[in-house]
Amino acid sequence: MLNRKKVILDVDTGSDDAVAIMLAIRSEELEILGITVTWGNRPVDNCVENTLRVLDLMGRDIPVYKGCPQPMVRYLTRQRNAALDKDGISANIGGQEVTVHPAYLDLPPAVLRAQESHACTFLVETLRNAKEKVTLIPVGPLTNIGMALRMAPEIKENIEEIVLMGGAVGMGNITASAEANFYHDPEAAKIVLDSGIPCRVIGLNATHSAELTLEDAETLKSLGTPAGQFAGELVESRIRALKAMGTGNGVSDAIHDAVAVACAACPEIILDMKRQRCDIDINGGAADGQLIADTRIGYEADETVTTQIVYKVDKKQFFDLLCRRLSEK
Ligand code: RIB
Ligand code: CA
Repeated sequence: MLNRKKVILDVDTGSDDAVAIMLAIRSEELEILGITVTWGNRPVDNCVENTLRVLDLMGRDIPVYKGCPQPMVRYLTRQRNAALDKDGISANIGGQEVTVHPAYLDLPPAVLRAQESHACTFLVETLRNAKEKVTLIPVGPLTNIGMALRMAPEIKENIEEIVLMGGAVGMGNITASAEANFYHDPEAAKIVLDSGIPCRVIGLNATHSAELTLEDAETLKSLGTPAGQFAGELVESRIRALKAMGTGNGVSDAIHDAVAVACAACPEIILDMKRQRCDIDINGGAADGQLIADTRIGYEADETVTTQIVYKVDKKQFFDLLCRRLSEK
């Protein structure tokens, strides 16, 4: 009998979040206790609706909880977003909106409804009362997780691991130095990485090592399942939107959040992971939200360091996994 990992996803659905949710649902290694939703790619209400639409598509009634509508403290300092020259997910091109993350995913309006409880209440109560440790898989800004840890620090005793999509070493996407999830709520990211909870950081280095192509998108569509069709459409639309916005090569793109779920379900796809001391810049300057990994000789991390950064995954194994699981009827 497979010893399934109890998990809670935290999402800002989002095109790659949608692929991640579908993959998580089809991964028998994972038992999804609930899905918490944060603001991020879009306002939190959009992300809730999009998450519910994906669950309708998959025919799964997993409890969904609406979370925080904005970052913990970032918006309190007006000039803090000065480094942001564009949001990087949408543009108006020739009068047409082009976007990596549609305000509403191209699926029927959701039939399912979110739960009444706030996401942070669900996280605190579920983790406080957990009989078995739970793995968190956050793939958006870490606001809900950071808030829950501030509300009830003792919950960390029942968290097995946090496998998160965020950060990058030596690269950025929302700014030259920072990845979007960390940039959107640097303080929450710092609370999580400083918590002492084992964290596996699936950053842009890892996700871009497993980019999917337009050809891969066609392969997904050819699986003959609603999940494969929708995932293929999302991959293709991301590649074309980034090209149209001048920030993509028009051939391939990283499906960030799905890589994080794949690493949680099947860690054997990981080719390069390093235990490293991490910090996050929260000073609001040009490096705001940057993940800082200590690579100095003489500062090698020992077992007391709880953060591991994934730098590379096996793209073929990732894609084969995605296709096998989304091909299931
Ligand atoms: O930088 C990529 C991350 O930001 C992904 O999680 C994407 O969905 C956005 O949230
Ligand atoms: Ca996301």
